[in-house]
Amino acid sequence: MKILGIETSCDETGVALLDNAKGTIQISSSIVASSLSLHATTGGIIPEVAAREQVKFILPTLTEALKTGLDFDIASKQTPDIDAIAVTYGPGLIGSLLVGVETAKTLALLWNKPLIPINHMYGHLYANWITTSDFRPSTIPFPAIVLIVSGNHTDLLLMNSHSDIQVLGGTRDDAAGEAFDKIGRLLGLPYPAGSTISRLAIKGNPKKFVLPRPMIGSDDFDFSFSGLKTATLNLVKQNKWDFADQHFKIKNEQLLANLCASVEQAIVDVLVRKTVKAAGKYNVKSILLGGGVAANAKLQTTLKEATSDLRLPTNLFVPRKDLCTDNGAMIASAAFFAKPALSWKDVDADPELYY
Ligand code: KG4
Ligand code: ZN
Repeated sequence: MKILGIETSCDETGVALLDNAKGTIQISSSIVASSLSLHATTGGIIPEVAAREQVKFILPTLTEALKTGLDFDIASKQTPDIDAIAVTYGPGLIGSLLVGVETAKTLALLWNKPLIPINHMYGHLYANWITTSDFRPSTIPFPAIVLIVSGNHTDLLLMNSHSDIQVLGGTRDDAAGEAFDKIGRLLGLPYPAGSTISRLAIKGNPKKFVLPRPMIGSDDFDFSFSGLKTATLNLVKQNKWDFADQHFKIKNEQLLANLCASVEQAIVDVLVRKTVKAAGKYNVKSILLGGGVAANAKLQTTLKEATSDLRLPTNLFVPRKDLCTDNGAMIASAAFFAKPALSWKDVDADPELYY
């Protein structure tokens, strides 16, 4: 079965072609265009700008994905050899989502193909099933704890099977990625700041600043990161550090590295503690990561160490780095496990979609 996956929920335009013919899910092509560089200077995403860029990118991305994956020329007016089209229908920015959803509906109508609407969050989860080309769907033993950490979500899920996924908890305010991005802004770093903070943190001392780890010991599986952001803001203000001033930033490289390391450690400590607690409570066989923050090396190594220290019999699965952030391949991957396809008439964008 060949599925074309389309992702446009935010600032990445992703189109991919996946094939499960050989018992594994193979990525025949995956093309991602991003408007991130446009948002770097504004310190965040302006929804109108993101939607306009989606409109610009969608046809070139689609053309290239079909050419690379199937050697199909979209201008040929033929129908490509695919079985279904999968598209992200939420959650996300409405303008961005509409570009993908309306494109997918048009193609489904024109080519007479079924349409599979995919929740973006399940896309992040199913990025784990396409990490290597010989990865078989049965490789991940259930039950599993899933930590989805992206720009807008910090969610812990219990996955008993493909059709039984329960939400254990989520963030009460800022998401982990949002915390990285907002703190990055305070430190004069371009948006999105997660990977930059992580890179700068390598040379820093994570114990240099004592920052709060909100809700780390709470009985539930919820998260909160806004207190960490406020604590960092207060620290920067009290010391009159001005990271917007390039001269100050260059002169205080070590200070910046120490701040980045301390912030990263605080976020990672909370994520790891709660994930490990959930894994122990539900006696799971696997832990799965997903979302942009899952690309964080410190999170991956700390989680690995914590599970082995506690001798938890769990396997840790992390998507390939380029599959942690938004892409079309994860959407097509989720479609192999999703509910039956629909007619194009029955699919609409839902920006507030939950699990
Ligand atoms: O999943 P994603 O691409 O988009 C959303 O669905 O939100 O995640 C983007 C988020 C951003 O907040 C970005 O700062 C964060 O992922 N991120 C990272 C890293 N790479 C991306 N955070 C920490 N460490 C990284 N290496
Ligand atoms: Zn995402």
